[in-house]
Amino acid sequence: MATNITFHPGSVSAEERATLLSQKGVTIWFTGLSASGKSTIACALEQHLLHLHRFAYRLDGDNVRFGLNKDLGFDEKSRNENIRRIGEVAKLFADACCITLTAFISPYRADRAVARALHEQAGIAFVEVFVDAPLNVVEQRDPKGLYKKARAGEIKDFTGISAPYEAPDVPEIHIRTDECDVTEAVRRITEYLSEKSFI
Ligand code: PPS
Repeated sequence: MATNITFHPGSVSAEERATLLSQKGVTIWFTGLSASGKSTIACALEQHLLHLHRFAYRLDGDNVRFGLNKDLGFDEKSRNENIRRIGEVAKLFADACCITLTAFISPYRADRAVARALHEQAGIAFVEVFVDAPLNVVEQRDPKGLYKKARAGEIKDFTGISAPYEAPDVPEIHIRTDECDVTEAVRRITEYLSEKSFI
């Protein structure tokens, strides 16, 4: 725990930064089971936004665990810390006026609530996107063979099998990926961002 530290505000206000850069920051927080489609949708959305010349960047569970969070596993405490760090990093990106896309299972409601509160306290918008597909569907997809390994007992604490997933109660956007394709998902999120004047 650091002591004797003082927050040093910058010379440019959040509003001025947004005006100068012609873009407001926001965090789009994707949550859902492994293989639900979080990364696929986030990738497509990032590409779409960049082609609209918007400053967008994606933080992805697997990728971030190669670096910043390489010290964390998948027990409950590690996931809490994973999401705590990502909440902080996403807030910094969004504060820099980036449309920040986070694609993490983020299975615990309380952890997502902490990330949301962190943003809201800083006056930064937080948009939760529930990427929803039933367990039998994601298990059938199993692109990385992880569900098969988890069922065989080769991976412990696997979300949906031997670790919990707490679905959002009132996400801003709810996408059923067993009913809607990636293009439609990107269209719906883009429409939301446009309605809220983020793009
Ligand atoms: S979490 O729960 O938010 O901390 O997880 P996250 O950082 O998003 O990492 C999920 C990816 O890690 C792989 N993986 C596992 N997922 C769930 N449970 C266990 N035990 C596990 N072990 C490895 C898996 O590839 C997840 O990626 P996605 O894209 O979600 O399939």
